[in-house]
Amino acid sequence: MSEKPVALVTGANKGIGYEIAAGLGGLGWAVGVGARDDVRREEAVAKLRAAGVDAFGVPLDVTDEGSVASAAELVERERGRLDSLVNNAGITGGMPQEPTLVDPDTVRTVVETNVIGVLRVTNAFLPLLRRSGSPRIVNVSSSVGSLTYQSSTSADTKVGPIAAAYSPSKTFLNAITLQYARELAGTGILINSCCPGHVATDLNGFRGHRTPEQGAAAAIRLATLADGGPTGKFFDDEGEVPW
Ligand SMILES: NC(=O)c1ccc[n+]([C@@H]2O[C@H](COP(=O)([O-])OP(=O)(O)OC[C@H]3O[C@@H](n4cnc5c(N)ncnc54)[C@H](OP(=O)(O)O)[C@@H]3O)[C@@H](O)[C@H]2O)c1
Repeated sequence: MSEKPVALVTGANKGIGYEIAAGLGGLGWAVGVGARDDVRREEAVAKLRAAGVDAFGVPLDVTDEGSVASAAELVERERGRLDSLVNNAGITGGMPQEPTLVDPDTVRTVVETNVIGVLRVTNAFLPLLRRSGSPRIVNVSSSVGSLTYQSSTSADTKVGPIAAAYSPSKTFLNAITLQYARELAGTGILINSCCPGHVATDLNGFRGHRTPEQGAAAAIRLATLADGGPTGKFFDDEGEVPW
């Protein structure tokens, strides 16, 4: 079994997920790089290793039950433990997404990745997490999933464009985070949502104003929370985000 704590980051081959993996690796964690594309995954693992991170590749498509089950077996076999799971993989489904025009299949696809994918991965890794002394789960959400922000009149990047698939998928993810926190209360497992801010990545055509390193900070903090820390909350770098 690994002596050092082990994290798994989904969608870690690029963007914010890659930087979460790099940041946790820099703190001395072993990091599983969850990614569905073999070439992109191995490139990311090689880059992280070159930077001194104890990284290992975990083939993982969050929409595929068999892939997720194999990923859990791989982490158990190769490292024998999991201390933090960071559910970072996500898609927007493409814009525009006005509710009057959106293709229902787009909504279904986005929810399948951003919500059901998180549920599927979390449940597959819970047996391993339950054996950790300080298990943590981080769901990378977005401020655009905040109904408080969406129903306010101020227009800024925290609200995002009108979107019938992406924003509601993050609202749904936040709601699921809360339900997990309620069920897992008292087990020592801390589960929280976070918002990375508006980050320049493939997801938004690199239009964000923050760097992926900056975007990774909130997730890294929640993945390494001390015992007794918050659970069932939603954070960004400035503190708690209203649901
Ligand atoms: N960028 C922002 O401003 C921003 C703001 C708020 C929240 N977020 C959230 O931050 C997270 C990371 O986004 P990002 O900006 O870093 O975007 P990104 O650069 O597009 O990265 C998304 C990652 O998710 C992976 N992914 C997508 N579908 C997957 C699946 N079915 N199975 C496994 N991996 C899958 C992608 O893998 P492939 O390379 O194989 O596609 C990629 O590694 C997302 O949850 C996003 O919603 C981003």
